[in-house]
Amino acid sequence: MSAKPDPLRALPVDQLMPLEARMEWQALADEIAQHDVLYHQKDAPSISDSDYDVLRRRFDAILAAFPELQNEATSLARVGAKPAEKFAKVRHAVPMLSLANTFSDEEVGEFVERVRRFLDWPEEREIAFTAEPKIDGLSCSIRYEKGQLKIAATRGDGEEGEDVTANVRTIRSIPQVLRGDVPPVIEVRGEVYMSTADFLALNTRQEAEDKPPFANPRNAAAGSLRQLDPLITAARPLRFFAYAWGAAEGDLPSDTQSGMVAAFGTMGLPVNPLTKRCVSVEEMIAQYRLIEEKRPTLGYDIDGVVYKVDDLALQQRLGCISRSPRWATARKFPAEQARTVLLDIDIQVGRTGALTPVAKLQPITVGGVVVSNATLHNEDEIARKDVRVGDTVIVQRAGDVIPQIVSVVLEKRPAGAKPYEFPHLCPACGSHAVRETDPKTGEAEVARRCTAGLICPAQATERLKHFASRNAFDIEGLGDKQIEGFYADGLITRPRDIFTLAERDARSLKKLKDREGYGAVSVKKLFEAIEARRNVTLNRFVFGLGIRHVGETTAKQLARHFGSIEKLREVAVTASADGEAAKAELTGIDGIGPIVAGSIVDFFGEAHNLEELDALMAYLTPEAMEAVAAASPVSGKTVVFTGALERMSRDEAKAMAERLGAKVSGSVSKKTDLVVAGPGAGSKLADAKKHGVEVISEDEWFERVGG
Ligand code: IVH
Repeated sequence: MSAKPDPLRALPVDQLMPLEARMEWQALADEIAQHDVLYHQKDAPSISDSDYDVLRRRFDAILAAFPELQNEATSLARVGAKPAEKFAKVRHAVPMLSLANTFSDEEVGEFVERVRRFLDWPEEREIAFTAEPKIDGLSCSIRYEKGQLKIAATRGDGEEGEDVTANVRTIRSIPQVLRGDVPPVIEVRGEVYMSTADFLALNTRQEAEDKPPFANPRNAAAGSLRQLDPLITAARPLRFFAYAWGAAEGDLPSDTQSGMVAAFGTMGLPVNPLTKRCVSVEEMIAQYRLIEEKRPTLGYDIDGVVYKVDDLALQQRLGCISRSPRWATARKFPAEQARTVLLDIDIQVGRTGALTPVAKLQPITVGGVVVSNATLHNEDEIARKDVRVGDTVIVQRAGDVIPQIVSVVLEKRPAGAKPYEFPHLCPACGSHAVRETDPKTGEAEVARRCTAGLICPAQATERLKHFASRNAFDIEGLGDKQIEGFYADGLITRPRDIFTLAERDARSLKKLKDREGYGAVSVKKLFEAIEARRNVTLNRFVFGLGIRHVGETTAKQLARHFGSIEKLREVAVTASADGEAAKAELTGIDGIGPIVAGSIVDFFGEAHNLEELDALMAYLTPEAMEAVAAASPVSGKTVVFTGALERMSRDEAKAMAERLGAKVSGSVSKKTDLVVAGPGAGSKLADAKKHGVEVISEDEWFERVGG
């Protein structure tokens, strides 16, 4: 795990220097991605929902203040993580989204304000929202064709989930056949959950059978739905609330959110009775209070209230920002707290060598969940809170599992408790761990990092995991556990070893198929998966190298710009030997600033990296960039909007153009491809003429992009 500053104590976002923002954002991305894996893939979250929300919020806030970071999106390109291997996969025709969060009345007001601004909706014009409980279960998409239940899938990573049709058929409240007038195809989405009473009864049964109890109803529901044996699911009473939909054919039964939910009810689907249409911020807040008041007696867990724009045409106009719709937000309930004892502090080492302290706690129940770990973020955080081993601490969580350490209860400090001394040696390899100084600010980096690079086993395994991971080489069957095992046995210690594994195995007396957990079939599959990746796409290759600050988007940009690893290498190596022109070429690439360029140059300036790269190239033939999402008539073009737009707000125009793959610029230059001009356009129109740039009207824009 990489270290990250504590968002609760970190500098206000508007006071961050760009470099600080970038570092913190990257660290947050890494950490959030890891939590996504634990939560979605392993059903074993290690932090509370509210902690997660704090991270996510800080992440979003930094991105909002430093939009250039968007180009570095790394591990967070997807919502959640990939499904466990055991179920068949289902690709969602319409992605299953996540919700942005709000935490106060004020923020609800700001949400409404943002929606109004985006739509250019004046104060006096009414806009309706729905308010409904946020159910603490797991989301599920159920496809009905001609009213018949055909297929049901979990969310998975939002793009691809697991086929849980057989299990969903066992849920009594979900109809096999919908009633009345139903669109020919509709994917109903909602939450599968377990009631509090059923959860308690299930845990009593688990204990009677000497099986481990579930931590909370959400985990119980997830564990029950994701059972390979539907008979087990059938024995676990699950329930469902419908609140959204994905793909649909034919006319929808309504043109509002509230109408759609009512129609689901008429079709025989369970819908939440606390769903209300509100036409003012005051009403939205009142509904939150009402739901909060009813929370203890609902009989099922909820962790907040969801607000959605009611008018579907407006939802459509608002669209999404990366993972969540602009037209909805979740107002979360505040976190719960408890006291416990800090037993120890563990230091974990991440891919970049960052040392992250993890608090080992005397297990304690916080809001119904047993908590035994919490991240302490970094050295400064421990010092600031003066957290000492043996201290009684206040831990906080909400909705789900592990916590944040809020503070130390000083009166309870045992005599002789010593201030914690953060190790200066890497616990994985014993090398020095240092805090680099930022040459610009002269301040120490938040993270202390092991200096050993790939010689450090912790870093080497983390980098190998990254190399083989889904968004990089995506080698099926070479997951974290396998890499750790192969590394420990010296079979894979560097990326190139992956590609010689089959050949070495053929010569070896100790065959892989005889290893524990393997057999002839799984080994054959693994070798095939590796073989297939000899033709990995260039962007995945570049991403897999694990160059600091080079996330998926930057990797794509590099791949697109250079077209081959040789060319990238040549320019970066020249730049590292003080080649100004080469450096300028890097920073000239859209979205690559001096910091990213610096780490690319550093990477290619390291002899051992070049050696590894050469070795790899002996086995690989990278293919050109992956095709970019469906081409549109304006993809790759630079567009400028000017003058008054009548059919859309400026923000909306920008979002639309970007969705279609165009880049929106504020000024016209010879690099501009298209100017969309409304009435009153002034100097930009003149600039367009000067540079011979095509100018079209707003209507022509819509014609061109297909309505
Ligand atoms: S709407 C496009 N409504 O919260 C928005 N989600 O953080 C789709 N959830 O993945 C979600 N209750 O699992 C919506 N009434 C509700 C919800 C709800 C619970 C969950 C859902 C979603 C997550 C987003």
